[in-house]
Amino acid sequence: MSEQTIALVTGANKGIGFEIAAGLGTLGWSVSVGARDDERRESAVEKLRSAGVDAFGVPLDVTDDASVAAAAELIEERAGRLDVLVNNAAVTGGMPQTPTTVDPATMRAVVETNVIGVIRVTNAMLPLLRRSASPRIVNMSSTVGSLTRQSAPGAETGPISAAYAPSKTFLNAVTVQYAKELSDTNILINLGCPGFCATDLNGFRGVRTPEQGAAIAIKLATLPDDGPTGGFFDDAGPIPW
Ligand SMILES: NC(=O)c1ccc[n+]([C@@H]2O[C@H](COP(=O)([O-])OP(=O)(O)OC[C@H]3O[C@@H](n4cnc5c(N)ncnc54)[C@H](OP(=O)(O)O)[C@@H]3O)[C@@H](O)[C@H]2O)c1
Repeated sequence: MSEQTIALVTGANKGIGFEIAAGLGTLGWSVSVGARDDERRESAVEKLRSAGVDAFGVPLDVTDDASVAAAAELIEERAGRLDVLVNNAAVTGGMPQTPTTVDPATMRAVVETNVIGVIRVTNAMLPLLRRSASPRIVNMSSTVGSLTRQSAPGAETGPISAAYAPSKTFLNAVTVQYAKELSDTNILINLGCPGFCATDLNGFRGVRTPEQGAAIAIKLATLPDDGPTGGFFDDAGPIPW
């Protein structure tokens, strides 16, 4: 099996996911670019390769059991194991999104991608991660999922959000449970918030670059063996739940 560190980034064709793939690639890692659209995936892989990254495309729709199983098979064939999984793919479900008017279909679609998608991908990749000497899982969350921040008087907490923000709270809660279950293994699993970055997700209204947003994921992907697990962090440090 290769000595090279093998990573998978979901939703790596654009935005913060692309920059996470680029950043991990500059460490000399082999990076699987998980993306659901063939053209967008291949163009991201080409862009990464032309920047010197050892990138390969992995067809991956996080909402589709068969797609996720096939992605795990492809990584097993190519690399035989996985060292780092970054669950980055997410959707907002569209705004405005008020609890009093939200379409239940929007709730289901957002939870399916942002929470169940992470569980589906993580569980499919776990057998490969267990073969790694220092496995890391990074779940991309958001400070909008912090109930402490959402309920702090006068805090800047983003728009009212029936599905997206609660999906990140749900993801945070699930990640804590993973950390508990995996506490007797060498797998470290943490949540990162990239800050408000200019991407498709928010109509490019963010004030940080996607590259700046990728930094916390890269930090959590490269934690030492005695690093934290079950935590929620941004560039400034731990985020309150
Ligand atoms: N941007 C911010 O300010 C901000 C703030 C806090 C947290 N975050 C989090 O950071 C992460 C990256 O966000 P971003 O701003 O880079 O968003 P983005 O530019 O909209 O990119 C989202 C990525 O997820 C992919 N994706 C969506 N549904 C998918 C599915 N079913 N299967 C596979 N891939 C799927 C998209 O692929 P397609 O191109 O095929 O749609 C795209 O590659 C997300 O978890 C987000 O919640 C972002």
